[in-house]
Amino acid sequence: MEVRNRVVIIGTGAVGSSYAYGLLNQGVADELVLIDLNEEKAEGDVMDLNHGLAFAPSSKKIWRGTYSDCKDADIVVITAGANQMPGETRLDLAEKNAGVFKKIVNAVMEHSFDGIFIVATNPVDVLTYVTWKYSGLPSERVIGSGTILDTARLRYQLSEYFDIDARNVHAYIIGEHGDSELPVWSHANVGGISVDHYIQQHKDLYSKEDLEPIFHKVRDAAYHIIERKGATHYGIAMGLVRLTKAILHNENALVTVSAYLNGHYNQKDIYAGVPAVVSRKGIKEIVELNLSDGEQKQFRDSAAVIRNTVESVYP
Ligand code: LAC
Repeated sequence: MEVRNRVVIIGTGAVGSSYAYGLLNQGVADELVLIDLNEEKAEGDVMDLNHGLAFAPSSKKIWRGTYSDCKDADIVVITAGANQMPGETRLDLAEKNAGVFKKIVNAVMEHSFDGIFIVATNPVDVLTYVTWKYSGLPSERVIGSGTILDTARLRYQLSEYFDIDARNVHAYIIGEHGDSELPVWSHANVGGISVDHYIQQHKDLYSKEDLEPIFHKVRDAAYHIIERKGATHYGIAMGLVRLTKAILHNENALVTVSAYLNGHYNQKDIYAGVPAVVSRKGIKEIVELNLSDGEQKQFRDSAAVIRNTVESVYP
């Protein structure tokens, strides 16, 4: 039987529809099913996307579906739920979105879904844990977008600072996708040269003092975008496409996602943003960075923020 990579998107708001648009434009997946409480909106998105098929790099079947379409889905992506309003933190959304998620995940599992969940709704680490619990799937098959976008934002900011292509700048943001996230400066490098050494080599141009403000731009990026346009969606949608491609193409890609820690980074029974190898079967391996003492403390503190929020909404 021909393999038909099917992705079901639950929630066709700004993030869900941008993600669908990204999958279409990058030729990822063969079948795209859109589900939203607002059926008219979902239908309109389906029509609009189908009209672009003649321009797309590959064919795709796109339809407005129901939860029964999850039965044969490879990946179910949840973007549904309330998003941050100006002045709100991601954690402020926990209670209202956790309730929505119980209904969504149960509805998916009623159709014996046996693929991979990707969670994007915030607070994403908390809701990924909740999805894992309600789904009963193995933890490696429940993945949160986590700090995939934060890491991309850090790579962008460093590429701007050093005037080097972002694809040659490697640096991680780990921990909560939120205000307690942390940059792993000890592993940041420009084409394999540590950032510390690269700055040393260009003392006239760069200074270590500039790194903290760069990190603040990354950590606070969503607030600044939301102030200007009401929501973020392009960056996260592209991160979701990257993650989907890594799974469907069995890439063994190393990306920072919200993954289940069971002793990793001295944490147990929690989802948090860490570097992980992602393949067709989900999380293949969690990569343990050799964090500095300061980074270990920051990660511990960030994990505590996630854990406290989970305890306030689950069970
Ligand atoms: C952001 C949303 C995805 O950081 O939390 O843009």
